[in-house]
Amino acid sequence: TRDLPGYNSDFIILGSGIAGFFTAILAGRLGAGVTVLTKQTILDSNTDKAQGGIAAAMDTEDSPELHYQDTLRAGAGLCDRGAVRILVNEGPRRVLQLMDMGARFDVEGGRLALTREGAHSCRRILHASGDATGAEIQRVLNKQALAEKNIEVLEQHFAVDLLVRDNVCYGVLAYDYKNDTLKVYRSRAVILATGGVGQLYAHSTNPEVATGDGIAMAYRAGAEVMDMEFLQFHPTVLNLPGAPRFLISEAVRGEGAYLRNGRGERFMPRYHELAELAPRDIVVRAILEEMQHDPQGGVFLDLSHLDTELVLHRFPNINRTCKGYGLDITRDMIPVAPAAHYMMGGVKTNYFGETTIERLYACGEAACQGVHGANRLASNSLLDGLVFGGRIVERTAGLWREKMETRVDFAAELPYMNEPLDCLALQEELQALMSRYAGPLRDRQGLEKVLSYLSELSDMENTAAQTPRQAEMRNRLMVSRLVAETALMRTESRGGHFRRDYPRPRKSWLKHIILRK
Ligand code: SIN
Repeated sequence: TRDLPGYNSDFIILGSGIAGFFTAILAGRLGAGVTVLTKQTILDSNTDKAQGGIAAAMDTEDSPELHYQDTLRAGAGLCDRGAVRILVNEGPRRVLQLMDMGARFDVEGGRLALTREGAHSCRRILHASGDATGAEIQRVLNKQALAEKNIEVLEQHFAVDLLVRDNVCYGVLAYDYKNDTLKVYRSRAVILATGGVGQLYAHSTNPEVATGDGIAMAYRAGAEVMDMEFLQFHPTVLNLPGAPRFLISEAVRGEGAYLRNGRGERFMPRYHELAELAPRDIVVRAILEEMQHDPQGGVFLDLSHLDTELVLHRFPNINRTCKGYGLDITRDMIPVAPAAHYMMGGVKTNYFGETTIERLYACGEAACQGVHGANRLASNSLLDGLVFGGRIVERTAGLWREKMETRVDFAAELPYMNEPLDCLALQEELQALMSRYAGPLRDRQGLEKVLSYLSELSDMENTAAQTPRQAEMRNRLMVSRLVAETALMRTESRGGHFRRDYPRPRKSWLKHIILRK
């Protein structure tokens, strides 16, 4: 071991999507010194990829009450009502704050243009550049964060572990890829905004960085995690050999697109009264069932009956991408399939982002205060990042004025050098297993298979990593195990969790699974 280079900052924020950067900007504006560590670049986030938009009751015909009811309904009985009240009531103010920072949402006839997505009772989703809402938000946040003198943004910095003593978090150990060094960042508070876990699955809408690092780190350090069995699959990503699993926004169905099977039949009305706009888990299972009946036939989105001008105006990004693969979205059937999209569970927090470890906070997809219940309402996630990120800053306003101990006294095992394991092969094997047995369709036998595979690798999950890649692998293994364990425990079906052997919800399961190491 040897002493590592050390740095001090009032706040360390891990992650640079909407939750991380919005929180950083608000804290920086209050005068706190903020260091944001991000695993790759500030463009590698789920935020940047978000299409459909951001939900908020901004229209005179809408109300926070309606938004509240829709969120609860989608959450299938497990939403924390207090958290949902906060989301819908504080949401519009936070969206206006984002607009003050420079976010330009689409307008129509002098008013905000609003679209609709599954399970929303009215049009309430703001969008930008048609279907590139997240890119607009990320653009604004990047600009503001980089311009703010109190914020330091460090790209290519991978947080390996939290530093916690006596249940108080005092910093992080991070690997600086640019200089190939392990460093210690000491701070008054650490805020996890590391996003989701989509990359645990073979097909995902999430970028490469979404490997559940924050959740794994917090769990390893002794924090509670909650609702890890609830994972949302998006019904429609592009399903073409050789093409990436590109998201085809739910807003496409919101504007009237149909889902058709290989025989050309519009099948969703057979499954749900809301047809293509049924809750996501129902659409996903319907698609899988159609695919199972006719494995060669495929499932498609059909926009050909919609007004061509509207389609091109609303979905320029989807149009451009599909065109690159020879598809004309105004005419051709777009082959689609479900893919892992959003983790409803995460590090357990209260309404102020406080975890069960002192001075460790979490917000955005990595956090779980129960706002999404068993199933997130479409376009509530960007809003969640703003609202609960903002609350952390309000809660910690006094913290950064305290005197901070500047001594950094951490030594770690070195070198982080050789790569004794073939992480890529392991990663692919794990993704295949998770997709097959812990995906949208689960049962006891399959989940036990995943757990028995993971138990053979438990040494790796529990020992110090030799390289950053191994550290990430360790996180993947740990979060996969949390998902499989909780999915096995929950002997019912609800929201994003479906058990073939327990296909119905059970009253006795109107409760959360909370795990702690
Ligand atoms: C989409 O555009 O379909 C994604 C919206 C969301 O997941 O909230």
